[in-house]
Amino acid sequence: MKRDVLEVLKKNKNCFISGEQLSNQLGVTRTSIWKYINALKQEGYKIESIPRRGYKLIEEPDTLSKDELLIELDRNRLGDSIYYLQQVDSTNNYVKKLALEGAVEGTIVIGEQQTGGRGRLGRHWVSPPGTSIYMSMLLRPLIHPNEAAKITEITAAAVANAIDNVTGLKAGIKWPNDIILDNKKVCGILTEMNAELNNINYVIVGIGVNVNIDEFSDGISNIATSIKRVLGAEASRKDIVINIVKEFEKLYYDFINTGSLINTVDICKAKSVTLGRTVRIINKNETIIAKAIDITENGELVIKKDDGEIINVISGEVSVRGIDSYV
Ligand code: BTN
Repeated sequence: MKRDVLEVLKKNKNCFISGEQLSNQLGVTRTSIWKYINALKQEGYKIESIPRRGYKLIEEPDTLSKDELLIELDRNRLGDSIYYLQQVDSTNNYVKKLALEGAVEGTIVIGEQQTGGRGRLGRHWVSPPGTSIYMSMLLRPLIHPNEAAKITEITAAAVANAIDNVTGLKAGIKWPNDIILDNKKVCGILTEMNAELNNINYVIVGIGVNVNIDEFSDGISNIATSIKRVLGAEASRKDIVINIVKEFEKLYYDFINTGSLINTVDICKAKSVTLGRTVRIINKNETIIAKAIDITENGELVIKKDDGEIINVISGEVSVRGIDSYV
């Protein structure tokens, strides 16, 4: 019900709406309305209350609360079940716990702060409070485990589109799973899977977006950036999360229903910062230096070595000359 009150206030932003109107519209007492308004004020909403005129929403906090997200996502297949935590070790870990308890596909966990944020290859993901997005989604796709890597590319395409939609910037994709602004990383994706030989129990897609971070520590300032640093202004974390979920949902069910990744691949190619460049790929114990020449319709990166050999790469740690530490 608090969410319904918030929704009506948002629809009437900067206009007064009386307690009586709210109570008639939502079918609850005026005392309850007053309690919900107070709860919203506690959460940081600036609401003016004037006797006989009612309530006016003046300012909204940049919160990623369940109420805020569900107002926008209630007609979506993903995001039916949202957990919003002030602090969590890692949103991926939390989703894993929920997955083992039987949580449904589309469950989303968002943390304001992670105390043990994880990156790929056991790296640490710096996760200070209030300025970024740390979110994980639970999926239960009926696909072969060999195809799970495609979900990372779907996520990359969705995040890049979401950043563009909300900020007007042009995000790039470093195949397969980094989002790039101004040649630096603005988002990382950590996809984890629990599977048997032929079927997947669950996939967790973890997304970390540097949104309004001002400064990065010396160790990463040459490779990491934030939307704020590039845009020169703060961006709404909530709008980005909502866009990510909506963009992801389109591409994910398109893939699940048709078996084709082509719409995702089209986005990944159009936004690629990898194609046409020299890359270094570390796969198991082997390091290959080659030129990235294409992305196949299955999402594989096609590389050409100096000796002319052409290889399709399914996954691996990729460094791109000029974009990360590889120069
Ligand atoms: C990488 O680029 O190495 C992947 C980084 C992924 C970070 C996100 S933040 C939300 C989710 N929870 C985690 O612990 N990691 C992912």
